[in-house]
Order: sequence, then C-alpha cells, then structure tokens
Amino acid sequence: MKEKSFLMLKPDAVKRKLAGKIITRLEEKGLKIVAARMLIIDDDLAKEHYGEHKEKPFFKDLVDYITSGPVLAMVIEGNECISLIRKIVGATNPKEADLGTIRGDYAIDTGRNIIHASDSPGSAEREIALFFSEDEICSYTLPDEELIYEEP
Ligand code: RTP
Ligand code: MG
Repeated sequence: MKEKSFLMLKPDAVKRKLAGKIITRLEEKGLKIVAARMLIIDDDLAKEHYGEHKEKPFFKDLVDYITSGPVLAMVIEGNECISLIRKIVGATNPKEADLGTIRGDYAIDTGRNIIHASDSPGSAEREIALFFSEDEICSYTLPDEELIYEEP
C-alpha cells in the first residue's frame, strides 16, 4: 500500500553536510521524494511537532536542538514506507542503532541523532500537514517503479 511519511534532517545533519548522503540512501532504496523544504523551525512549530513529548524531561533540550539551525523537511512516498523509513533511520539512541542505519552510521548521542521520521500513519498525516500544504506535494511517477515494486 502506497504511503507518505514525513522525514526531517535535523540541524546537525544539515550543518554536518550529510544531506546529500542521506538523500542518496533514500533514493537508492527506491523511495520517492515528493516534497522538500529548508527552513528554520520556530519555537511554536517545534513544540507542536514534538507535542507528544511536552511533559518529558528532555523537551526543552529537544526544542532548543531542533530550532538551532536549518532543517530539511521532506515528504517521502513509497509502499509501506512509514515503517520502512523508521528501519532505515535506526533506533532513537544512535549508540543502540544498528550499523547500516542512518543513525547507526552517522550519529552518536540521542540528543544529536540527525534525523526525524514519522512513527505511524497518524503521525505522518499530522506532521506532513504541519510542514506542507497540499499543493506543495508533487504527484509523479519514477521511470523505474516497475523495477522496484511488483505492483507499482
Ligand atoms: P524522532 O521523533 O525525532 O524521529 O525520534 P524518535 O521517534 O526515534 O524518538 P522520540 O521518542 O520521538 O524522541 C524525539 C527526539 O527527542 C530526543 N530525545 N532525547 N535525552 C533523551 O532521553 C531523549 N529522548 C529522545 C531525540 O532527538 C529524539 O529523536
Ligand atoms: Mg518520534
């Protein structure tokens, strides 16, 4: 089933110039970028995006981290891509993330774990709507979709 997920390269990923490498991984997997935007998140958007964590002890650090520089927000489309992207991203604590995952390969500390990805269809829908309007999401076909999916 075709799904859209929200993915965001956090300020450390952008400043460490890892954007190209991370986007290449997604493209090489066969996933499709259908929206992308570089922005500096303000406090209100950060608090709304991570609202589920507002009572957690790390909430202030998380808001400071995510507003500390530009992020690259993206919408990715692919079959069952929400859970697939979480696997590609790896565990929240990069020290526990498997090597071969983005966090496992490029990050060390939980508070500098370089990338966000939606954790469920409900989160994906909410997060996409927070960052993008409908008309900013592109609908198109990749020429190799038949080589990637049995049933494109
Ligand atoms: P994300 O939402 O950013 O994709 O990360 P996640 O689902 O893997 O983890 P989540 O539990 O949603 O936590 C959101 C972000 O908060 C920071 N965090 N710090 N110090 C801590 O114990 C702690 N726990 C989480 C991380 O930046 C995490 O990605
Ligand atoms: Mg999360």
